[in-house]
Amino acid sequence: MADVQQGSLAVVEKSLVALFVVVVGAVLVNKFRGKKLKLPPGPLAVPIFGNWLQVGDDLNHRNLGDLAKKFGKIFLLKMGRRNLVVVSSPDLAKEMLTTKGVEFGSRTRNVVFDIFTGKGQDMVFTVYGEHWRKMRRIMTVPFFTNKVVQQYRFALEDEIGRVVEDVKSRPEASTTGIVIRRRLQLMMYNIMYRIMFDRRFESEKDPLFLQLKALNDERSRLAQSFDYNYGDFIPILRPFLRGYLNICKEIKEARLNFFKEYFVEERKKLASVKTVELKCGMDYILDAQIKGEISEDNVLYIVENINAAAIETTLWSIEWGIAELVNHPHIQNKLREELDIVLGRGVQITEPDIIRLPYLQAVVKETLRLRMATPLLVPHMNLYDAKLGGYDIPAESKILVNSWYLANNPAEWDNPQQFRPERFLEEEKKTEANGNDFRYLPFGVGRRSCPGVILALPILGLSLGRLVQNFELLPPPGHTRLDTTEKAGQFSLKILNHSLIVAKPRVF
Ligand code: HEM
Repeated sequence: MADVQQGSLAVVEKSLVALFVVVVGAVLVNKFRGKKLKLPPGPLAVPIFGNWLQVGDDLNHRNLGDLAKKFGKIFLLKMGRRNLVVVSSPDLAKEMLTTKGVEFGSRTRNVVFDIFTGKGQDMVFTVYGEHWRKMRRIMTVPFFTNKVVQQYRFALEDEIGRVVEDVKSRPEASTTGIVIRRRLQLMMYNIMYRIMFDRRFESEKDPLFLQLKALNDERSRLAQSFDYNYGDFIPILRPFLRGYLNICKEIKEARLNFFKEYFVEERKKLASVKTVELKCGMDYILDAQIKGEISEDNVLYIVENINAAAIETTLWSIEWGIAELVNHPHIQNKLREELDIVLGRGVQITEPDIIRLPYLQAVVKETLRLRMATPLLVPHMNLYDAKLGGYDIPAESKILVNSWYLANNPAEWDNPQQFRPERFLEEEKKTEANGNDFRYLPFGVGRRSCPGVILALPILGLSLGRLVQNFELLPPPGHTRLDTTEKAGQFSLKILNHSLIVAKPRVF
């Protein structure tokens, strides 16, 4: 009897244990199920490498566009330890850049950008928060208002006028051709250095200019290269990157010291001995430093940001515009006709004229659509776990908006591969470059959008306008068109070859 009782007790005990295990198991399964993330679609990832071996290093706008056709308007790539989310539709761009602009308003940096920005002591690559707000506020008055455009419009016109005169003075320009980019690069430096420091460089051979350009070019090459991806994606491979990172550190130090010694300190000295009538950009920035709002390092990173964000992007866009005009002579002629009719033959275009020149504006917009200088915007990041398009986006994902794909998707645009400015006077006449249409975001939109658009658009309009007014732009002898092979970087798009261009002066 006692044995029977003990036996049934053991059965009860076992049943209870079994029940307990089942209940706990169910609770845990439920809990894990609840936690299971709904990640965006993407190719199957392998351990350690993720998708890196499948998709490779060249994550440019076209390759990412091809992946969007396969995986949809949002997809996830695991690049080693990094999550890379790519957004390729206007509705998701809207959700991310505006509706959830705060959540997705931070920036990722990689191992190289960490070095060049002092881990985000700058404005362009810092996370969304107090520091970014302060830096953007301090930079707005000296660089990003219409007042600045009005104050410097004569400087812009002067610099572009000098390009025209220099090109006219070079006989080979009208015969064998010249690499006009080199002169336009000097122009862009002069425009930005006049705004920043009230300084300009006399010629392409000015030793200070050559040194500055060499340091900036090296920074741009090192930062935009895909060659260092492996060490960024897979930390155990980082030791192999030591040499590369050391070069980045040397260039960064040399560059910031150069800005300090030759420009910032010089401006301080000048401001201390005489009262400057008209403040230049640096005077405002130094005022903020004196008030204790920012540190000396922050000042230097502001100079770094203007050098990196303003000069090359605008120059690449001018170059693309020229290349398209050379390769489409009927568009070049039509633009020249507009300038002649509206302004009068030989009357040089000035900033207030741009508004009266719709075809010129359309040429600029079409250049920025087909040949976006920053086709993936500047990478964004969510500091915390977030949702996008109904998917879970793990904290600290790198988010690219493929704005080139948005503006070149045949489902959204008529014949997008064709360079046709007329589209912006016809079916796209309401589409502006300021982000009023989420299919067209050459400058981004929302909190982290490009504040320099206010300067970039007049510079582009004036440069292309003056060149077309004064010259017939042609491919070099023996060529029927210019080579427009693209060279993409981490988030840049420039023309690979700086071809010779024939600039035949017009006779008025
Ligand atoms: C054609 C020329 C230019 C293009 C295509 C361009 C494009 C862009 C784009 C796409 C972004 C990132 C937007 C985003 O991530 O959502 C950006 C950011 C920025 N751009 Fe430009 N840009 C140009 C010229 C300029 C100029 C002339 C300046 C300065 C005078 C400038 C200063 C900046 C700054 C400071 C940022 C960072 C904004 C932030 O993170 O808050 N850009 N630009």
